Amino acid sequence: MRLILQLLEKYKKNESKCRGCNFCSKIIRCPSPNYCVGCKSCYLGCPYEAIEPELIKPSKTIKIIVDDVSYEIFEGITIKKALELIGFNVTRYPEKDALFAPCETGGCQSCSVLADGVIVPSCHTPVRQGMVIQTQLSENYVPRRIINGFSPHPVGGVGTPWHLKSKRGYIEVACFAAGCNFRCRTCQNFHVTYKSQTRPITPEDAALQLTAFRRRYQVNRMAISGGESTLNRPWLIRFFKKLSLLNPDKQARIHLDTNASILTSDYIDELVAAGMTDIGPDLKAVTLETFLKITCLTDKELAQKYLDTAWNCVKYIADHYYPEKIFMGVGLPYNEIFYPNEERRVEELSNWAERLCKIDPSIQVCILDYRPEFRSSLLKMSYPSPQEMKTVKSLLENVGLKCVTAQTREGHIGPK
Ligand code: SF4
Ligand code: SF4
Ligand code: FES
Repeated sequence: MRLILQLLEKYKKNESKCRGCNFCSKIIRCPSPNYCVGCKSCYLGCPYEAIEPELIKPSKTIKIIVDDVSYEIFEGITIKKALELIGFNVTRYPEKDALFAPCETGGCQSCSVLADGVIVPSCHTPVRQGMVIQTQLSENYVPRRIINGFSPHPVGGVGTPWHLKSKRGYIEVACFAAGCNFRCRTCQNFHVTYKSQTRPITPEDAALQLTAFRRRYQVNRMAISGGESTLNRPWLIRFFKKLSLLNPDKQARIHLDTNASILTSDYIDELVAAGMTDIGPDLKAVTLETFLKITCLTDKELAQKYLDTAWNCVKYIADHYYPEKIFMGVGLPYNEIFYPNEERRVEELSNWAERLCKIDPSIQVCILDYRPEFRSSLLKMSYPSPQEMKTVKSLLENVGLKCVTAQTREGHIGPK
């Protein structure tokens, strides 16, 4: 293979912007502390955007073997980058025969390959001289993923029926998957999303732990959230199957909290067959413009695919499974900064409600008050007041939605 010289992106701290929060050393695991291999994890995860890219001219090359073919490649890069440079299809939307690498921060492990006999996330592992890489994993391969925060919850998520939220005590146990395919500046869970310090675990381990939490807290609902919980499909399917096996009683509910951006109909069918009973998809926007603003994605074509898939997911579940087989509650993130002015805010929210009404006006909606979090110190953003949330709720109801709830800093507001 002829190597075409190109500049490689590396990342380094801008000391004048660094606030010393240690997020990049305590939460993020740098896969190559001695020389940057450009994985981007610290760049994507620094809450103050103090890590900046710089372009470096590569000087040395090394030899690696990929799927039994030898290649000469630049040193000091990740396996994922090496695969891209030698022409592999590496994608952020699942495609047949492509390596799916949606989070790029070491959390989801969907991008795993076999390198020198060990399964590793390709986005988070440096190439080495003589490395032997297999991109196809065997059928017996046990997927792993970074999962954190096993805990009981008093309110659940957007896919939790609203009438349960008013009960006292815990109603759900949950765990949280690291890695997300969105880049929201207002990420409410960024400590989980960008976490790569802990060891990835098998779906069976996670199901055993969550079941133990269910028993300890005497609840029927078990949830997985994130980050984005759907990114590693084999992992999630095995997790739900194992949860179903461990919890065969009729009261057990298995709840998926998701941005729904890759939930195609075949994936949904597989989740239902594996035991999913409840789902809380976020429909972050109706227009691409607002979706880009919320998710901070820059690739418009990719973002449009994610947005279309999320709406199609809600329609598919409504047409095939809701409400008899699957309970579905939809989330709508809200903050006035997502809209350029008052007129557009009302227009977008009305269009969002109209589109959902056409699918089914009875679907439960939870408006989420997006508060200043993560990179919000760089935005002029304030916490929506309970009154503002009530106004948005009325707006959606006036269009025809029948079950609108709102999360506010003073607690949840029920439908009526
Ligand atoms: S995460 Fe960002 S702000 Fe925090 S210590 Fe690292 S570089 Fe500095
Ligand atoms: S975390 Fe990744 S991008 Fe950041 S310094 Fe380490 S190798 Fe470079
Ligand atoms: S894309 Fe590599 S771990 Fe998620």
